[in-house]
Amino acid sequence: MTDSPSDTPFPHRHLLAIGGLSPGDINHLLDLAETYVELNRQIDKKKSLLRGRTIINLFFESSTRTRTSFELAGKRLSGDVINMSVATSAVRKGETLIDTAMTLNAMHPDVLVVRHSESGAVKLLSEKVVDCAVINAGDGMHAHPTQALLDALAIRRRKGRLEGLLVAICGDILHSRVARSNIELLNIMGARVRLVAPKTLIPDQVERMGVEVFHDMTAGLKDCDIVMMLRLQSERMHGGFFPSVREYFHFFGLDYEKLSSAKPDALIMHPGPMNRGVEIDSSVADDFGRSLIREQVEMGVAVRMAVLEVLTRNLPAPDPRNL
Ligand code: NCD
Repeated sequence: MTDSPSDTPFPHRHLLAIGGLSPGDINHLLDLAETYVELNRQIDKKKSLLRGRTIINLFFESSTRTRTSFELAGKRLSGDVINMSVATSAVRKGETLIDTAMTLNAMHPDVLVVRHSESGAVKLLSEKVVDCAVINAGDGMHAHPTQALLDALAIRRRKGRLEGLLVAICGDILHSRVARSNIELLNIMGARVRLVAPKTLIPDQVERMGVEVFHDMTAGLKDCDIVMMLRLQSERMHGGFFPSVREYFHFFGLDYEKLSSAKPDALIMHPGPMNRGVEIDSSVADDFGRSLIREQVEMGVAVRMAVLEVLTRNLPAPDPRNL
C-alpha cells in the first residue's frame, strides 16, 4: 500500500492487498459500497463520477466474474473502460511486465485493474506506473483484496457486523489468494477465523496469521456464523494433494450434514467459480435462505465502484474544460 496525504479518508494510492488498511479504511469502503448497492438496484444506475477517466482492465489470467464486475463498476461511474486480455496483448510476443508498464504509461490511464498468475507481479507493476492507481484483481496465491471486501460487505449486510463473528474458511487454503485476503480483513475487523482443510492444503505456519486450524469439518464448523467454501484450484496443483475428488467431497465437501454443526443461522459463501459436488453440494449452494453466493456477486460490483471512487479521488483532477 502506498501512502499519500493522510487527510484523505482513504490515504492510499493503490489497492494491492488488505494488509496495511486500517479498520477505518475498510469501514469507509464498505459504507460507500453500501450506497452503491442501493444505486445499482435503481433503474438509472449511472453516476458521472469517473467521466474523463480511463480504466484499463489488464488480465494476464483468465477471469469472467471479476473482469465483468470491474467493467460494470467503471461503466456505472461513467469511466472509459478498456479490457486488455493477455491473448491479444504483446505479452504473448515476449514483452516483459516492465515494457507493458512503459507502454501503458504512454497511454495515460487513470486506473489499472490487474490480474496476474504470479504473486507480486501487480505490486511490481504499481511501482512502474506514473500518475495511475493500481488495483490488484488477484495475483497468484497472494492477494485478492476486492474479493475480501465484497465478502465482508455481504456478511455485514446480513449479520449487521463483522466483529466477534466466527468464520470458517474451508478447502484449498494453500493456493488461495481469497483465503489470505479474507484472513487479513477478518482479523483487522475483529472476527475470529478458523481454517478447515486437509493437511496437504494448509500452508506451513499459517497459525501465525492468527487463525485456528482444523482438519475435520464437523469440529471446524462447530458454532460458526459463516462457512466460506473455496474452490479446489487444480490448475495450481502439481502432484497429489488428496486421494480422489470423491474422497475429498466425502470428508471436506459442504453438505447439510456437515453444515449442521455450524450455528442454525450460519450463512454459506463461495467466491466462485464453484465445483459443484467437489467442495460444495449443489443443494447447499442453491439454498437461498442460507447461501450468500448470489449476493457476493452483487456486492462485487458495489465494492469495486467504491474502490474506484476512493482511488480516483486521490488522483490529480481531470481538466474541467475537457469534461
Ligand atoms: C477467485 C480467484 O480468482 O481467486 N475467484 C474470483 O475472483 N471470482 C477464486 C477462485 O478462482 O477460486
